[in-house]
Amino acid sequence: MSMTQDELKLAVARAARDYVAAQLPAGGILGVGTGSTANFFIDELASIKDRIGGTVASSEATKKRLAGHGIRVLDLNDVGEMAIYVDGADEIDAGFAMIKGGGGALTREKIVAAVARTFVCICDASKLVATLGKFPLPLEVIPMARAHVAREVEKLGGTPALREGFVTDNGNLIIDVHGLAIADPQGLETQFNQIVGIVTNGLFARRGADVLLLGTPAGVKTSKR
Ligand code: 5RP
Repeated sequence: MSMTQDELKLAVARAARDYVAAQLPAGGILGVGTGSTANFFIDELASIKDRIGGTVASSEATKKRLAGHGIRVLDLNDVGEMAIYVDGADEIDAGFAMIKGGGGALTREKIVAAVARTFVCICDASKLVATLGKFPLPLEVIPMARAHVAREVEKLGGTPALREGFVTDNGNLIIDVHGLAIADPQGLETQFNQIVGIVTNGLFARRGADVLLLGTPAGVKTSKR
C-alpha cells in the first residue's frame, strides 16, 4: 500500500519530535520552520512542550500555530544559543544544500538557521534531488528593486517570475527564478547575495542542513553530513 505525501510528512514530523526529545538539552531553545511539513512537526511538538525552554518561530504563521498549542515563543534577540532548528525544504541535494522559500518565509528561516547549532531538515522523499533548481528559486526582494533584480536574474541565465499578490512577513516581494540547473549551490548563493535589492535568496548551501530526516515509504531515514 503506498503512502500519501501527508502520511510521509507526518511520519517525518514524529521522527523530528523524537529527535528533539532526545537531543535538545533540558530547557534548550528550539527554532521552528515554516510550511506544511513544519506544521505537522509543530502539532507533534505539543506533546513534549514541557521539555522545551522556548521556541523561535521563522514566520508569523508558525508563531501563531506554536502559540495555539501553548508553546512558548521567544524573540530571537532574547536568545543566546539555539541547539536545534527544524524546518522543511523545497529541494535538498546529496550534500544537504537546499532550496527553500516555497512558502515565502526564507529570510526569517535563514536568520534562525544561522543562529542554530544543528539544522535538521525534515521532508518527504520527493524533495531529494540530484541537482537543485527544478523547483523555482525564491528571492525576497525590496519592492523598489523588483525590475532591477529581474534584469540581474536574466543575466545569470534565470527566468524571473513575480509571485503575484504575495507579500512577505517583512513587507517585501518574492521573485521565483525558473530555469536554473544549479551545479554550484554555494557559488550561486554567493552571486545572488551580491545583487542589491535582494534581501535573501532561497539557496541554503553555505549553511546547509546537518541532519536529514527523510520520509520514505520504507520508513524515515536519518542521515548526517
Ligand atoms: C517556506 C519553506 C518551506 O520549508 C518549504 O517551502 C517546504 O514546505 P512544505 O513542507 O510545505 O513542502 O521554505 O518558506
